[in-house]
Amino acid sequence: MINYKDIGLVNTRELFRKAVTGGYAIPAYNFNNLEQLQAILMACVETKSPVILQVSSGARKYANQTLLRYMAEGATKYVKELGYEIPIVLHLDHGDTFELAKSCVETGFSSVMIDGSHHSYEKNVELTAKVVEYCHKYDVTVEGELGVLAGVEDEVKAEAHVYTQPGEVEDFVKKTGVDSLAIAIGTSHGAHKFKPGQKPEIKLDILAEIEKRIPGFPIVLHGSSSVPQELVKIINSNGGKMKDAIGIPEDQLRLAAKSAVCKINIDSDGRLAMTAAIRKVFTEKPDEFDPRKYLGPARDALKELYMHKNINVLGSAGKA
Ligand code: G3H
Ligand code: 13P
Ligand code: ZN
Repeated sequence: MINYKDIGLVNTRELFRKAVTGGYAIPAYNFNNLEQLQAILMACVETKSPVILQVSSGARKYANQTLLRYMAEGATKYVKELGYEIPIVLHLDHGDTFELAKSCVETGFSSVMIDGSHHSYEKNVELTAKVVEYCHKYDVTVEGELGVLAGVEDEVKAEAHVYTQPGEVEDFVKKTGVDSLAIAIGTSHGAHKFKPGQKPEIKLDILAEIEKRIPGFPIVLHGSSSVPQELVKIINSNGGKMKDAIGIPEDQLRLAAKSAVCKINIDSDGRLAMTAAIRKVFTEKPDEFDPRKYLGPARDALKELYMHKNINVLGSAGKA
């Protein structure tokens, strides 16, 4: 059993408390590889932002769970070398079983999400409460989810949004004991969040209604990439074929971050930044074959993207 506190990580409790009262959100960035992790840490140290490093079960399969956990341990030492010790959370993204959550706690995660949103309400409550009971023994914080995001989450695909029902949140939080709640208010995973012609907007009215029911309770937004059109343009002008890629407008995320939304999940925008940078190198230097020569620019682009998010969208810069 590895205790996250022994390897320099923190859980989300104190970070969320400050974020809710301070009107900003903590960035939750997914990582699968070295360059993503380096970019996240460099950006968060440079902007003095706390950070949540997110690992999905897909990431664990891709990169190896042991390597990822040592990378996170390395992260706590690396930020010191970078010159500023920011709080780092290691978080399981979209955990779907009790066993997976338990395995993450045992290997040094400081926070887990148990996503029972595809189950019936009763089953979601039962599974989430079981994970909370286990995690709290080790002071690991737990994120639950109510409502269903449209799009694909690992193997689960939902055709349409099922918005979180404000009438359910209080009961869910009370029965499960979760530390934070992910809600569905029109965000979705991936790079195609709206159809062309559709107004890209999230349901801030449902968010306000939820806040009324559980005042000050930490709320999480998944599927919050903004899909910067300049990145889509670079991808498409360098051999890519991304059609109708549309994300959540940044000003709406800024508004949400000022409310009880205290964790904003971003993965797809990082994927776009990396892909754009790599495609550009491949177009401009077709004879290049040293991975550092295309992964390096990808890392630079990622760092710039994350700094922008922390400063201009989430408001987490300077809060570490
Ligand atoms: O919510 C999904 C995250 O973007 C993680 O994606 O399951 O492909 O690693 P993944
Ligand atoms: P995006 O696909 O919008 O980046 O969302 C990521 C996410 O919610 C990870 O859990
Ligand atoms: Zn998600």
